[in-house]
Amino acid sequence: MSHDLDALLAEQIAYYRARAGEYDEIYAEREMLDTLVGQLPISGDVLELACGTGRWTPVLAGRARSVTAVDAAPEMIAIARDRVRGLPVEFVTADLFGWRPTRRYDTVFFGFWLSHVPPALFEAFWSTVRGALHPAGRVCLLDTSDREREVEEVLPGESAPAARRLLNDGRQYRVVKLFYTPQELTARLAGLGWSADIREADGQFLVGTAVPGSA
Ligand SMILES: C[S@@+](CC[C@H](N)C(=O)[O-])C[C@H]1O[C@@H](n2cnc3c(N)ncnc32)[C@H](O)[C@@H]1O
Repeated sequence: MSHDLDALLAEQIAYYRARAGEYDEIYAEREMLDTLVGQLPISGDVLELACGTGRWTPVLAGRARSVTAVDAAPEMIAIARDRVRGLPVEFVTADLFGWRPTRRYDTVFFGFWLSHVPPALFEAFWSTVRGALHPAGRVCLLDTSDREREVEEVLPGESAPAARRLLNDGRQYRVVKLFYTPQELTARLAGLGWSADIREADGQFLVGTAVPGSA
């Protein structure tokens, strides 16, 4: 990985660590996302990647036998841990670009994460996901769609597609930010041997599933 991309990914983690306490503000008046997640075929032992404050973790735990939730930001995990008291959830603090699963799962879920995976690490990330799935397992994902481009401050000339993010106190950070259409993401995954069923929802979100092919 280039030094510049390394620095961008470190800044992305720093941003989310600093933002943990204010992160859930984005979920005000977004109850329809629960409907979208409710329609996903989540079952069995679930691996949640980039769980953040655990907005989805109890929802997953309510439909799963167990949940393993991974995130690089301990501040995020602390909030998520509070949210799932009494539920069968195990947390792992790790950088997903180095972390490897130690077992296999029936479902791998990630919400608002894939658009933060740089193109140079896309294939390796999906290889990690494949290694985390039982042969009959599936990925369930939720993310922003390409419409998000209109509301992000896109930064030119970075080592990966990137955007500037501001905290409530004005501090600024760069994050990786991809803007996929359902067609682009489906084609990209097909190129790696995945069969994906991804659609746009509510004009600004992507939601769907992906299963590994036999290749
Ligand atoms: C947009 S938030 C999504 C949180 C949660 N999934 C949700 O839907 O609300 C992105 C999350 O990715 C985490 N993250 C960023 N870089 C990471 C990395 N390299 N490895 C693991 N987690 C990372 C951040 O800490 C943050 O919690």
